[in-house]
Amino acid sequence: MSIKTIIEPFKIKSVEPIRWTTREERQQQLSAAHHNLFLVPADEVLIDLLTDSGTGAMSSWQWGAMMEGDESYAGSRSFEQLRRVVQDIFGYKHVIPTHQGRAAERILFSVMCKKDDVVPNNTHFDTTRANIEFTGAEAVDLPIPEGLQPANPYPFKGNMDVTALEQLIERVGRHRVPLVMLTVTNNSGGGQPVSMENVRAVRAVCQRHKIPLYFDACRFAENSYFIKQREEGYATRTPKSVAQEMFALGEGCTMSAKKDGLANIGGFLCTNDDALAQQEKNLLILTEGYPTYGGLAGRDLEAIAVGLEEVLHEDYLSYRIASTGYLGKHLSQGGVPIVQPPGGHAIYIDARAFLPHIPPCQFPGVALTGELYLEGGIRSVEIGTLMFADAAKMDLVRLAIPRRVYTQSHIDYVIEVILEVWKRRDQIRGLRLTYQAPFLRHFTARLQPL
Ligand code: F0G
Repeated sequence: MSIKTIIEPFKIKSVEPIRWTTREERQQQLSAAHHNLFLVPADEVLIDLLTDSGTGAMSSWQWGAMMEGDESYAGSRSFEQLRRVVQDIFGYKHVIPTHQGRAAERILFSVMCKKDDVVPNNTHFDTTRANIEFTGAEAVDLPIPEGLQPANPYPFKGNMDVTALEQLIERVGRHRVPLVMLTVTNNSGGGQPVSMENVRAVRAVCQRHKIPLYFDACRFAENSYFIKQREEGYATRTPKSVAQEMFALGEGCTMSAKKDGLANIGGFLCTNDDALAQQEKNLLILTEGYPTYGGLAGRDLEAIAVGLEEVLHEDYLSYRIASTGYLGKHLSQGGVPIVQPPGGHAIYIDARAFLPHIPPCQFPGVALTGELYLEGGIRSVEIGTLMFADAAKMDLVRLAIPRRVYTQSHIDYVIEVILEVWKRRDQIRGLRLTYQAPFLRHFTARLQPL
């Protein structure tokens, strides 16, 4: 076929109006929210790129499947349906449903980690890090050096530094490393993929030391598509078979179905280890629910089961990756420094390069999120010094694209707004903190312009 335009592979059956505000209204909202966009009501936002988590649009098949939900407390047919789909793609023996990804994390780490343990990852996401630290263990990020160079276009910047992993295990001792994790794609590191070659290399180290490898699988379909596109030998493979090959290299995973489950809520925890699964299910019953629903309604389990199959469709993934890439391409053509190459679910603006006159301690990322909101009602999120404090190696502003929600003209608008802010970047000022919570401070922090 000679037509090159990649279009949204769906038509719209139900619409949700979005609301325009004036600049004065947005100024008021921003001040009332203490310059933290988490504290702005969603109705005051025009284009919401805060997160791609739970914000996607479900398909008519998913809505249809929801009517089939079996709401039985125990032995729900909908759970069997989910388990069948998860085992087909992920291949793990035990599938434990949870209300979202972080519940899976909390249960996994409560069972596997203790004080003074060390858990390596390519880069931990904020909830993963917080849940590990909550057990008294240490969360260590081991990205490859390229992963920390925003402008470097290396195709697999989500990879883990395998030598650094070896050295870490050597230094702290195998007995202190209960598991190794790989986050696919690497969200905190720019939505960048991990190559199959890297997964294999990490797996080899884990096997040598008899350490189980777990995936943080939130965006596994996007990662699989990047492997298909970029890694030698995968071009003719289906995204599903790539995912299956990858998961076969690990012992289990945590998953937030709010991302590549194409659902608005849900998650699961998988493992091949019978003894661990038993302990995990006991903990699940304590706070989440019985192991055949895990805090979800039967209809949610149905929606996730359909979503996991749809997310691997090639026309969906090619549109998804192309539309994120389109945003990235036009921003960088306009001069805006972004993490290269464009990620799967989001574009990350390099705020330290965008605002070189604002030092990290004055939160350049947060300053930029405020300006994008003021200029065009766009909500984005800082992934940097506010989120990770001293552990922050970059200050990024993430423009996360909800799945199947915005059209190309919305994205064109976002590009125009950001280029306007780029023109007046010299006038943007930094901020100082006036309130912070003891952990995950970015959600509730208050700030004041300097
Ligand atoms: N792991 C990664 C890589 C994530 O991106 C997230 C959530 C989680 C785990 C936790 O899953 O939200 O279902 O509890 N990320 C969202 C985001 C919140 O905006 O990136 P959850």
